[in-house]
Amino acid sequence: MESISLGKSDLMSSRLVYGCMRLVGDNSSEIRNNGKVAVRTAIDEGYTHFDHADIYGKGKCEELFAEVLKETPGLRDRIILTSKCAVRFKGDPNEDDPNRYDFNKTYIKESVDGILSRLDIDHLDILLLHRPDFLFDAEDVADTFQGLQTAGKVLNFGVSNFTPSQVSLLQSRCSMPLLVNQVEINIHNISSILDGTLDQCQELNISPQAWCPIGGVAYAAWGNTFTVEEETRIKFEFDRQSKKYDTEDWIIMLAWLLKHPSKILPIVGSTTPARIKAAKKALDLNYTHEDWYALMEARTGKAYA
Ligand SMILES: NC(=O)c1ccc[n+]([C@@H]2O[C@H](COP(=O)([O-])OP(=O)(O)OC[C@H]3O[C@@H](n4cnc5c(N)ncnc54)[C@H](OP(=O)(O)O)[C@@H]3O)[C@@H](O)[C@H]2O)c1
Repeated sequence: MESISLGKSDLMSSRLVYGCMRLVGDNSSEIRNNGKVAVRTAIDEGYTHFDHADIYGKGKCEELFAEVLKETPGLRDRIILTSKCAVRFKGDPNEDDPNRYDFNKTYIKESVDGILSRLDIDHLDILLLHRPDFLFDAEDVADTFQGLQTAGKVLNFGVSNFTPSQVSLLQSRCSMPLLVNQVEINIHNISSILDGTLDQCQELNISPQAWCPIGGVAYAAWGNTFTVEEETRIKFEFDRQSKKYDTEDWIIMLAWLLKHPSKILPIVGSTTPARIKAAKKALDLNYTHEDWYALMEARTGKAYA
């Protein structure tokens, strides 16, 4: 698979990232086995970048991945491991604590120790702050990042679901470049195209990653607000393009993301081996500027002229 450098670094990532959120499901042995097969398929198909978070499967996704690492000598050195922290659930640590985002230094440091321990690795390639803590102190976060880097526990840093101004604020205090902003981008959620997020990625040389890239195509998008009329219009355009390119609508969706000049890295979250493999078809589609606009027009109901 083609690879791409991340942000201002020379860290090379496969253009499609493999997302590990769905690896363990209900944690039954059958689904865990399927999860391992999915990871091995991704490795065989040339994915070299794996996306985790401490909360995926309440840590079980990272633990399952550690088993694959153990069973595959040399794998750790061939891949990029990203994980995320700072989403803190109700009741942690006190019974009446609410759900929240927490960039507290001690909490982040302890979260990283947990990630390293579950993945059974000595360093993480990239740590992302999962969601912006509205109360974050940028100096404090910069200091936390520096401490983690100096300790050799985390090599690179980035963010997830940050607005452009939150990225600017944090970057203004960090000595190291932020490599990634991981945001939801799919046919339903096109905010990053319109609100400056992807423009900022280009300006500052930050790699955007698209989570749930096929939400609204292969399955209902989070917080779906499409009307029946919109669904019909979008489906019509997907059908037209699928026929034209002799492929499926979700491959068109990935190609639409890949077309953006900010060099979006879609995160593929399927656990089905055939789909993990098929997603690569999007990389070879000679997808046109005109078709990009045709889908944008179907999505927004606006004619861009
Ligand atoms: N930063 C954040 O806040 C955030 C939030 C959410 C996710 N993420 C990351 O993004 C990654 C990707 O998200 P995602 O898992 O939602 O990605 P996705 O690739 O958009 O969706 C995967 C889901 O779609 C199903 N699917 C795929 N192709 C399909 C098809 N042709 N027909 C029907 N169903 C199909 C898959 O089912 P099968 O498994 O059965 O194929 C799977 O349940 C996650 O793994 C995680 O790493 C980050």
